[in-house]
Amino acid sequence: MDIILRDGRLPDGRAVDIGLDNGLIQAVEPHLPTSARQDIALGGRLVSPPFVESHIHLDSALTAGQPRWNQSGTLFEGIEIWRDRKQSLSLEDVKARAIATLKLQAQQGVLYVRSHADVSETSLTALRALLEVRDAVKDWITVQVVAFPQDGLYGGPKNLELMEAALKLGTDAVGGIPHYEMTREDGVESVHRIFELAQRYDRLIDIHCDEIDDDQSRFLEVVAACAVRSGLGSRVTASHTTAFASYNNAYAFKLMGLLARANINFIANPLINITLQGRTDTYPKRRGVTRVKELWQQGINVSLGHDCVQDPWYNLGTGNMLDVASMAVHVCQMTGQEEIAACYAMVTANGAKTLSLQDSYGLEVGKPANLIVLDADSPYDAIRRRATVTHVFSRGKLLVQTKPAEVKWE
Ligand code: FE2
Repeated sequence: MDIILRDGRLPDGRAVDIGLDNGLIQAVEPHLPTSARQDIALGGRLVSPPFVESHIHLDSALTAGQPRWNQSGTLFEGIEIWRDRKQSLSLEDVKARAIATLKLQAQQGVLYVRSHADVSETSLTALRALLEVRDAVKDWITVQVVAFPQDGLYGGPKNLELMEAALKLGTDAVGGIPHYEMTREDGVESVHRIFELAQRYDRLIDIHCDEIDDDQSRFLEVVAACAVRSGLGSRVTASHTTAFASYNNAYAFKLMGLLARANINFIANPLINITLQGRTDTYPKRRGVTRVKELWQQGINVSLGHDCVQDPWYNLGTGNMLDVASMAVHVCQMTGQEEIAACYAMVTANGAKTLSLQDSYGLEVGKPANLIVLDADSPYDAIRRRATVTHVFSRGKLLVQTKPAEVKWE
């Protein structure tokens, strides 16, 4: 055996030794009698599948304040600032920031990332850069790229053409932004077009859907209906869906039935939407996060994303998925023990399901040897203390180690 991790604790509480060899998990047992080239004592620490960042924009990451800061804190000022910033994008600029962000994520236990790439500018620089990055990092982190029409599929005369060019260049998924199209009709048409493109090019779908406080923004029902009719189901993801929090309960109850039937995935981004949404409210002020708890209670797959790390929409952000899970626990009022465990699943296994990676993800024997060790004894403890990820193993090798902070009283 190449590596044995001794005396670890799985998220379900079982105490185990884990053997890694040939890039795969070879054994998960209460005690492994064999020896290994490298024996690592974990002292009862939590061993987990890696974190999954199911929603981020790597092309805009680390640009906060360029060319100016977002003073209103709104989504729409963010889009305007990004429209200016993206005029000066170069391949090198995007690649350097994306790789710096991926390193920040990986050192905190993220080994799977779905990034949106803006395909609204004519040179497709952001997209080309992220496709190069996806390839350059594939030996240590898995990246999926979504072609995301930030300015709308029908917001400019060339946008549809650019989307198709992006798909030909090899994105993993088709994206969209129906609530930002000029008219409701354009929004509905954009969703139908996204499904057509996904079927023609055999891609996943991940739509920025109803990311607005408008209770009349109802593109989620269109996405769900298209998922039912096309049979694409679990290959489809609705991101944000913050308007769902503003729908009246009679409509939300009816919609929930359709969503369960559609079998689509949801991604909530509680860090950023708690700050972006509700900006036009006085009091009471809305939380701006979709109905995470109710979706989870219906058995619908929900994962959580960071969305932004220091960009025009959110000038904070660390890439730490425990920050995201902690915010979900608070904003979605999921403080029960089962609910906290569910929020941990939303940044691990549920994210893998959203990315359609569940066959290669997990701590079972025969799966790729991607796993992390945390300075915590349970998922609850990890979220509560935002515990340090002490070891990250990727493709059977130790990729990065971090020492927890030491406190010394005099
Ligand atoms: Fe987003």
